[in-house]
Amino acid sequence: MIKFNKEVVAVTGGAGLIGSYLVDLLVEEGYKVIVIDDFSKGSIQNLNKNLNKIDLREGDLEDFSFTYKALGDCEIVFHLASRAYGIGYSQNNHTNILIHNEKITNNLILTFTKKIPKKILLVSSSCVYDDNGPDVISESYPIIHEPELANLGYGWAKRMMEKKFQILSKELNVPVSIVRPFNIYGERYNWVGEYSQAIPMLVKKVLDKNNPIIIWGSGNQKRNYIHAKDCARFLKTIMKNDDLGQIYNIGTEDVISMSELVNLIMKLSDIKLDIKFDKSKPEGRFVKSSQSALLKSIVDEEKLNLLKLELGIIKMFDWYNLQFNKKFTK
Ligand SMILES: NC(=O)c1ccc[n+]([C@@H]2O[C@H](COP(=O)([O-])OP(=O)(O)OC[C@H]3O[C@@H](n4cnc5c(N)ncnc54)[C@H](O)[C@@H]3O)[C@@H](O)[C@H]2O)c1
Repeated sequence: MIKFNKEVVAVTGGAGLIGSYLVDLLVEEGYKVIVIDDFSKGSIQNLNKNLNKIDLREGDLEDFSFTYKALGDCEIVFHLASRAYGIGYSQNNHTNILIHNEKITNNLILTFTKKIPKKILLVSSSCVYDDNGPDVISESYPIIHEPELANLGYGWAKRMMEKKFQILSKELNVPVSIVRPFNIYGERYNWVGEYSQAIPMLVKKVLDKNNPIIIWGSGNQKRNYIHAKDCARFLKTIMKNDDLGQIYNIGTEDVISMSELVNLIMKLSDIKLDIKFDKSKPEGRFVKSSQSALLKSIVDEEKLNLLKLELGIIKMFDWYNLQFNKKFTK
């Protein structure tokens, strides 16, 4: 097993939602952590508690000379930086997302062919899967059809990233672990208005008392949600335990429909609003849940314990107060 105690550990996208929790965990364990981020979506506040312990390299990974300087001395790389917004952005910006993420991928690949790292973990996405597969998706589900249509550009960018890094891995003999998270949320989410993801979007709408709450699609579409801190724990475990360069889903089989999610947020906040459905908007596949068998095989039983969605949503009320300078209390 490759040890990474002494090496320099880099986290691209380390100021973002998932990346900043990962940085916390790595710093807590005593690793020397390099954070690479352009703060296009991540924030310095997410790194506040570790600012004097990390090596912060601010810049744009779309720029090759920055990428080479920032990553050229890194032996262990967690790659999370990407343009990743909610469906409100993805559905109308396929080409933009594809080009942006492809540039980052190509710059990393080119850097690593010149300065070969010891190990890489790529954060891909469950959006690489298509719209028509089984409700419960396993990592071995064949990737042969178009990715999720509402996230076509994003899904292709992630697929291309996976494939290019698999080729690099073979050629340079570097293990590359690939992780496909499902839906991740948390109170370090940086609000991007109408482009935001489902949980922050719905929490804001309910606490703002936007009546009626409009849900995209039928409201029956079901998803599973994992807190970003749990996701970060799994990234660290995978990096430590996977020397074969395998593919891991990060998600669960416990799903909740969009309507149930809005009702849960209303119940937890004691706010009652009407719900309306905008069926002209995309809702993606009907059920999207994950088997995550490979993850379960490397994570101890007790460490698989996830933060309950109810508790996570209550934490999102703190996020709301902080992001929008509000004083919501139940
Ligand atoms: N949040 C989810 O539900 C989810 C689900 C599946 C996959 N993912 C993937 O996980 C990774 C992390 O997602 P997140 O939710 O933490 O998103 P995030 O937007 O909070 O984090 C991404 C970080 O990358 C940085 N970044 C973006 N473009 C950059 C560039 N050109 N140069 C340098 N830094 C750049 C952003 O500033 C941000 O801090 C992403 O690759 C995303 O595609 C997220």
